[in-house]
Amino acid sequence: MLQNKTQNFILLSSFLAVISVALLFLILAGSVAFAQSHEHHGLTNGVVDVQSGKMLFQKKCAVCHGSEGVGGVGVPLNLHDFLRTTSNRYLLQTIRMGRPGRVMPAFSTLTKAQVQSIILYIRSWRPEIEIPVYSLDLIEGDVKKGQVTYDAACDNCHREKGIGGEGTGVTFSRPRNAELIAPAIGNSAFLAAASDQMIKRIIMTGRESTPMDSAMAMGLKEEDVDNVVTYLRSLEENGTVQKVKHSQRDDAVLMYESSYSIEETIENMKRAALGHNFRYIREQTLDHGFVEKDQESNHEYLIYFCNFTFLNQALLVDPRIGMFLPFRTTIVKKEDTVLVMTVSPDYLCSLFNNNELKQSCHFMAEKYEAMLEESTF
Ligand code: HEC
Ligand code: HEC
Repeated sequence: MLQNKTQNFILLSSFLAVISVALLFLILAGSVAFAQSHEHHGLTNGVVDVQSGKMLFQKKCAVCHGSEGVGGVGVPLNLHDFLRTTSNRYLLQTIRMGRPGRVMPAFSTLTKAQVQSIILYIRSWRPEIEIPVYSLDLIEGDVKKGQVTYDAACDNCHREKGIGGEGTGVTFSRPRNAELIAPAIGNSAFLAAASDQMIKRIIMTGRESTPMDSAMAMGLKEEDVDNVVTYLRSLEENGTVQKVKHSQRDDAVLMYESSYSIEETIENMKRAALGHNFRYIREQTLDHGFVEKDQESNHEYLIYFCNFTFLNQALLVDPRIGMFLPFRTTIVKKEDTVLVMTVSPDYLCSLFNNNELKQSCHFMAEKYEAMLEESTF
């Protein structure tokens, strides 16, 4: 009897293996054809298409930047002023290098084609915007004057030497419409990705609906902006900023595919959370506060959890951890798939550079993974 089952199993496995190989072959053949048809358009080899870009964004970016790029832990990307001032080169390099020491991970394992697909998707939000291309001409302003202007006009948000807003640049409990944390513009990866001309244009333009004003609104002349750009560039040369660490991993996001419906998954989550001594705090739709109540999507939810014992212990070790608690989980439904995602506690803690904290975070990460596994499988 048992043997029979084993034989059946082996038969079934070989059958599945054959099917998988056949499928893989079909997919590969399809990709090659697709890639060839795209090479004529000056893209790259590998599959570059908006659909896979959308999927990758959903899996790798949405948990921080919000689906459709509305923003969350990460800055909003779906902004008119952002999309009309940033080049594709900047996006590509930012995604590849991340921001060392900040929350934005380096996605060094994505292929160039995958990153380009993500960019294609990001651009698809506002197709009417002309994508800027910048010359690499350096701006030669006055460093000293630039520093004076920086200290007066930028320092209170971007902080000394552009290290960026408080802590890791993330507050997990921050409501999504709360003030944005100023990015690290002295960061080595930002300076490596952004050309002088692009930085200048960003400062001249500002970003609507964020605290970042235009140069004019800050009372700066074009010459002042040139000096500030020169000052920012000097931070890179002086080696005052953290060097890009290529070892920084991109598994910042824990993701599970659920075998249940979205409603069942949420109920499972609540139960699993209780079992692991977490308190369920609340759930809301992802676009809560952004659209009228009756238009809120029922395909995307945020769930807040907290384990107060852990919170209190961790706060004693390092008070900065309070900034990203309680933990937040995103549940999205795309076609027939329900995905459960969260930022990895291990990853977040690795940004704090505190060994004792790292250990409790690892303990937490394991609980977290168990909880997500229980509610999805
Ligand atoms: C009131 C706070 C505030 C001040 C003052 C301010 N910024 Fe910003 N800045 C921000 C925020 C917040 C963002 C992110 C906006 C977003 O969501 O895209 C930003 C974005 C930027 C960016 C884009 C970088 C990136 O990674 O998104 C640059 C460059 C920049 N600021 C430079 C400056 C310079 C130079 C000054 C001074 C002349 C300045 N800012 C003054 C808050 C500020
Ligand atoms: C763990 C959270 C997290 C994930 C995951 C994440 N980001 Fe970010 N991202 C951030 C934060 C926070 C910033 C602001 C950087 C800073 O504070 O200096 C940022 C900055 C950026 C910027 C620069 C924005 C600007 O104003 O210039 C881009 C572009 C970006 N992210 C794209 C992506 C893409 C694409 C993905 C997925 C492949 C991704 N991010 C995944 C948190 C994240």
